[in-house]
Amino acid sequence: MTVTIAIDGPAGSGKSSVSKEAARRLGYGYLDTGAAYRALAWHVLDLGADTDDQGRVLDAAEEFPYAISLDPDAYWVRVGDVDVTEAIREPRVTAAVSGVARVPAVRERVNELFRALVAASGRPGVVVEGRDITTVVAPDAPVRILLTAAPEVRAARRSAELHTHDAADVAAALHRRDAADSQVVDFLTAAPGVSVVDSTDLDFAQTVAAVLDVVAAGTQENHDGR
Ligand code: DC
Repeated sequence: MTVTIAIDGPAGSGKSSVSKEAARRLGYGYLDTGAAYRALAWHVLDLGADTDDQGRVLDAAEEFPYAISLDPDAYWVRVGDVDVTEAIREPRVTAAVSGVARVPAVRERVNELFRALVAASGRPGVVVEGRDITTVVAPDAPVRILLTAAPEVRAARRSAELHTHDAADVAAALHRRDAADSQVVDFLTAAPGVSVVDSTDLDFAQTVAAVLDVVAAGTQENHDGR
């Protein structure tokens, strides 16, 4: 059985880079679930359809030739033969993704994909990061973490990543997306049994260490059968 480490959190919490590094250190796979919603939004746009048209989005999800690498050192995302690793980060995709992610039937379809990817990973464990991993995708995972950070810190981190963009615009876009996404999944409050790691005052290395502490405690507990 593959061990699942479930990590949820909002944009700019450091979730992706921290999850990737934790996976490396554990010798586990890394699954970025947001990439599937982004790739589906890209696919719908590529088909020339409107991402607010739920019927078209669902049709696209049914015929979705999606592939993603679970190797934390070799990350790529593909739709059919097209490498969309870079394209799914474009602002037009980011702006469209909440519309795709709010369709319940799409979420069910994508969640099946995630469980299949974890089961077929060939690794002892997979760090799975997203918004509803601790609650919906893997509620029984031995380790479940909510990675948070104060909104202003998240906005500052995101604008540092996207240095070509205006900081105020980045902050406004991030808060808009948080507001839209949190109507679908509550990723700002920890569900019962979920450990909170608040990265507001932690640097990258400290955040990774805090996450690995929770993993060690969680997997140890499971070992002891407690
Ligand atoms: O983490 P991200 O920014 O790449 O996520 C892209 C979008 O997908 C985001 O707007 C929320 C959505 N998402 C989701 O609804 N559930 C997940 N498990 C992961 C992402």
